[in-house]
Amino acid sequence: YISNYTIADTLCYSFSCNMSDPALLILYGSQTGTAQDTAQRIARQAKRRKLQVRTMPLDCYNVATLISESTVIFVCATTGQGDPPDNMRIFWRFIFKKSLPAGSLCQLDCAVLGLGDSSYPKFNFVAKKLQKRLVQLGASMLLPIGLADDQHELGSDAVIDPWLAAFWQKFYTLHPSLKFCCTMIISHNRLPPSYTFHFLDNASDVTWQANPAEQTLPSSSSLLAKLLSNIRVTDVSHFQDVRLFQFDITGSNIEYTAGDVVMMRPCNAVDDVQQFCQLLRLDPESRFTLRPTDSTPVPTRLLHPCTVRHLVETYLDIAAVPRRSFFELLLTFATNELEREKLLEFSSAAGQDDLHAYCNRPRRTALEVLADFPHTTAEIKVDYLLDLFPEIQPRSFSIASSLKALPNRLQILVAVVSYKTKLYKPRKGLCSNWLASLDPNKEDIYVPLWVKKGTLKFPRDEDTPVIMVGPGTGVAPFRSAIQERTADGITGNVLFFGCRSQSKDFFFRAEWEKKIKARQLTLLTAFSRDQEDKVYVQHRISENAELLMDLITNKNAFFYIAGNAKEMPSGVRDALKGVFQQQGTVSAEDAEKMVNAMEQSGRLQSETWS
Ligand code: 2AM
Repeated sequence: YISNYTIADTLCYSFSCNMSDPALLILYGSQTGTAQDTAQRIARQAKRRKLQVRTMPLDCYNVATLISESTVIFVCATTGQGDPPDNMRIFWRFIFKKSLPAGSLCQLDCAVLGLGDSSYPKFNFVAKKLQKRLVQLGASMLLPIGLADDQHELGSDAVIDPWLAAFWQKFYTLHPSLKFCCTMIISHNRLPPSYTFHFLDNASDVTWQANPAEQTLPSSSSLLAKLLSNIRVTDVSHFQDVRLFQFDITGSNIEYTAGDVVMMRPCNAVDDVQQFCQLLRLDPESRFTLRPTDSTPVPTRLLHPCTVRHLVETYLDIAAVPRRSFFELLLTFATNELEREKLLEFSSAAGQDDLHAYCNRPRRTALEVLADFPHTTAEIKVDYLLDLFPEIQPRSFSIASSLKALPNRLQILVAVVSYKTKLYKPRKGLCSNWLASLDPNKEDIYVPLWVKKGTLKFPRDEDTPVIMVGPGTGVAPFRSAIQERTADGITGNVLFFGCRSQSKDFFFRAEWEKKIKARQLTLLTAFSRDQEDKVYVQHRISENAELLMDLITNKNAFFYIAGNAKEMPSGVRDALKGVFQQQGTVSAEDAEKMVNAMEQSGRLQSETWS
């Protein structure tokens, strides 16, 4: 099993160690779970080295005690617009307080590992800014910052693995006594699970009943919203299924405004849950409670007894592409020689190309992997389920409606994600397919949801016009803004909308026509496939250069971009630069400066997703 670890990794197994063990604190800021997974992986490596290790989200940590720590690893993701993840926002505000004295962290040795995506403009912005601030506060950096990139063809591990090896090397030089206790090569013995399952016989605890609100709601501002409608808004002959969902939020304290987003946590498909239980030989109806094995608290969503079905359906992310740590743990259950060899390869540094080709490129799900390794899967001990599978993460959707136009209602516009890879079965987005499967005409359906402030902010004063560029489902936040602004009698609304065909995917057409008639909206459309040559929103921007220049320079208009993150946003920015060059007769360089200045002052905002 040695190949699974780097040499540095295999050095220390310190049952003979009797010195006072060095302590390591791992703090993370994670939005989608990758940073959390990485932090937990580092913690496992530390535990194998017999270090005292604590791992937690930054906002669960009492920052005031940072001054008494010795070694801290920060693992921080950067979200879309260069913002910190939700579970490190309190820390973020605290650490940048001007009142913190310059040398306050001078006793601290730290290391910063950033997780980001270089297809976004502010690549690893959070980690970089954090590192700068820590240094400013006097902390010493053990090694250069690690900047993992989702866009790397081998995934973020391509940066994380060597960075971690360098970290441990540095750690050993700081704690030379550790080397003396490295008497044995690390074995692949499983670490204890984070929790143990205690199954309840059916007679006990009969009074308890699953309360979906308690099980799934993360905060008091959450709501079980009744789903009122689920309507396909693209023509049936169109390749893409796009749905408009309407929820009833009556009686909640939810007060959203244009630009806000709604969060929802999807469930696994019923068939997947069934297959999972069969593969692991679990009785879906059996009920259990969780008990922690160390200081890691039981997730609040799992504090009550629940059935295995409930756990698999609402908590375990079995439909995601599994991470390397999944294979490392799966390997420890392998008894079948063929499966063991393959898992060993996928867990080793040398096998990462193969793992990528097997898993990441074709987007193979964890459930499909389990089906490929049936002998190993049948050996999985139930106590390890929460170590093997991450929690299903909530997804965010731009709200597409306004309370001013539709009181007590909340709407979202969702493309049902389905695409082909080399695998036979199409790949399906978990949340959009789950939503699409809900039929409010058949039964009453309540969906737990909560609302977050979005990144798009619209001007409050009625004299400021807004120019909105939202092709496809990118139009969602702008429908909210247009409904809100027109309800307030504001007429300065310009929308650039793009889709493939006027007759197939022109969302909200009738609504726009009414607003145009009422002189509340200027709409410019680009139907990319209704003619021989492709026409995109950026073409319409260039064609309307004079109008845009007047709105931006004379009327102080705000400019918004929303939609698919691939090439559209940069195409639109380039078109805007072109407008400045042509109309303002300025150089390309100056046009670029003008666009940047608009962005800096908040007059150019974007919300993009992939
Ligand atoms: P296409 O699919 O015909 O290429 C919504 O998805 C609309 O955005 C579609 O009409 C799509 O056109 C268009 N689109 C695709 N790539 C784009 C890009 N780089 N810039 C602007 N629009 C784009």
